[in-house]
Amino acid sequence: MLKAGVQQQLRRIPVPVALAIGILFGFIFARILPWTTSTTPIWRSGHIPSKVRQQSRQPIQLPTVDQRARVLELLTTLSPHYTKECTRNSQPLYVQQALERYSPLVGHNPPASNSWLASLLGGGSAELDHAQAVRRDLQASEHKYFFAINLYNSFDVIPDLFATLFRVAAILGYHNVFVSIYENGSSDQTKALLRIFDALTKSVGMRVMIRTSMRTRGAFNHRIEYLAEVRNAAFVPLHELRDSEGEYFDTIIFMNDILPCVDDLLELIWQSRRNNAGITCAADYMYHEEIGSPVFYDNWVARDINGTALENAPFERIFHHVPSSQRWQRHLPIQVQSCWNGIAVLDPAPFYSPPHVRFRMARITEGECSASECSLICNDYWEAGYGRIMMVPRVKLAYDSKVFDIIHPTRRNLTAIRGYKRLGGLPDDPRTDPQDRTWFGPHDRLFTEEESEPLGFIPGPSHVWCWGWDGAGDLEGPDVDPIWEKMPNKSTRPDAVQVRHDRSMAL
Ligand SMILES: *[C@@H]1O[C@H](CO)[C@@H](O)[C@H](O)[C@H]1NC(C)=O
Ligand SMILES: *[C@@H]1O[C@H](CO)[C@@H](O)[C@H](O)[C@H]1NC(C)=O
Ligand SMILES: *[C@@H]1O[C@H](CO)[C@@H](O)[C@H](O)[C@H]1NC(C)=O
Ligand SMILES: *[C@@H]1O[C@H](CO)[C@@H](O)[C@H](O)[C@H]1NC(C)=O
Repeated sequence: MLKAGVQQQLRRIPVPVALAIGILFGFIFARILPWTTSTTPIWRSGHIPSKVRQQSRQPIQLPTVDQRARVLELLTTLSPHYTKECTRNSQPLYVQQALERYSPLVGHNPPASNSWLASLLGGGSAELDHAQAVRRDLQASEHKYFFAINLYNSFDVIPDLFATLFRVAAILGYHNVFVSIYENGSSDQTKALLRIFDALTKSVGMRVMIRTSMRTRGAFNHRIEYLAEVRNAAFVPLHELRDSEGEYFDTIIFMNDILPCVDDLLELIWQSRRNNAGITCAADYMYHEEIGSPVFYDNWVARDINGTALENAPFERIFHHVPSSQRWQRHLPIQVQSCWNGIAVLDPAPFYSPPHVRFRMARITEGECSASECSLICNDYWEAGYGRIMMVPRVKLAYDSKVFDIIHPTRRNLTAIRGYKRLGGLPDDPRTDPQDRTWFGPHDRLFTEEESEPLGFIPGPSHVWCWGWDGAGDLEGPDVDPIWEKMPNKSTRPDAVQVRHDRSMAL
């Protein structure tokens, strides 16, 4: 299968390390700042730095920086259908906030003699000699990110997904990123498209492993058992890289077939590291025909900190827990008992060390409620002492272009309309723009100070609403009467939300 070939290729493909800053601003804010690479790129082998291997490796013909940059530019500017516009034409103050906010995530050090801003604007010194460059590279941030992605009949979202991945990886540092994709038995052209992106991805030096399977649910008795198996399959390289290379990751980003913008992913990662959270998720939306608008979607998994399910409802009625609802309506991060919502950022620690969590079905013989594999992993994180689980309402996700367009309206210049001078934000306070008071407002809503404050995590609820799905019949959804399920005592103690694994950034 794909696997052997992929691993061989990984060894041969070096990684551009120093392109990141130029690419970051070149692509995210293409219309605002000039695209430049003013630093000397350094190539090195794909996996963890291994002196032995590097010395014994034969020199190989590498694509030039220009060649790589051309592929990258093509991929990130031509391929997105839907997400192309979400970071373009952002209001200048938002751009400035985002640059400052996400600069701790940039995956390598700036040139020694210049500020990164100066180098980004073209004033940087390109004259670093090789030794200096290598030293700089070694000092670079080594926070490693593992992207796990499950795809199934995802032809339509793959171009956007990859374009976003390229750009995010450029910021985090290509050498810090590994992408694992597991595709199970798609009947559309997903496999063909994946092959194209696989090749292109490698040509820009990003590590990607794509595995496909024709295995179907038939072989499993329980549907959650099958779904858990599909998710675990995307994690296989995580364990393989540890066993074969001694490579450990610091953050896992788990994605479904969804349409995120670059800054959506950055914000989830930022919040996850800021709060040393066990699990951090976004909010996903689906169109509700009766209501005639998108509503919060993944209420099979999402539970507030009282253990109550969230609702498929307009935003004012999603949370029953009052303090959570208040924070939600102000777009502030919220502690929850459980959530998944299309993208989840995970602390890998409980995967690597005991109790070795994994996706699983309920232990039905022990009387456990047949919840989603994603709810169960949240419960397992609580029990393992990683119960810092949070939701980031700013990050709104869609599964199709119809919803995407509604939740990412472009900002209109209201000042120009009918001479309403007070609209469009006051000159000295852009936050007064009425568009930012609507729930589905422009993507470049300014950050408030409260969005940067760390969350105060409290112990988990004693009971959680569980709506089981045994899948015995043909019902395409939960088929067991819901219950309040008792949680293990461990997750109700303060110990369950202590920081055990510090993944914070230097702010
Ligand atoms: C593949 O997995 C998805 C869930 O991730 C599931 O909905 C789909 O039915 C699976 N495909 C097959 C062929 O079983
Ligand atoms: C909080 O949880 C309890 C069960 O533990 C439930 O009876 C109660 O209705 C919940 N409160 C809210 C506001 O959801
Ligand atoms: C909005 O429109 C007003 C009036 O036409 C103009 O003065 C202002 O520069 C515009 N603002 C932006 C950000 O385009
Ligand atoms: C959990 O707590 C309950 C009530 O506080 C107690 O009755 C029970 O024995 C505890 N269980 C364990 C395993 O400690």
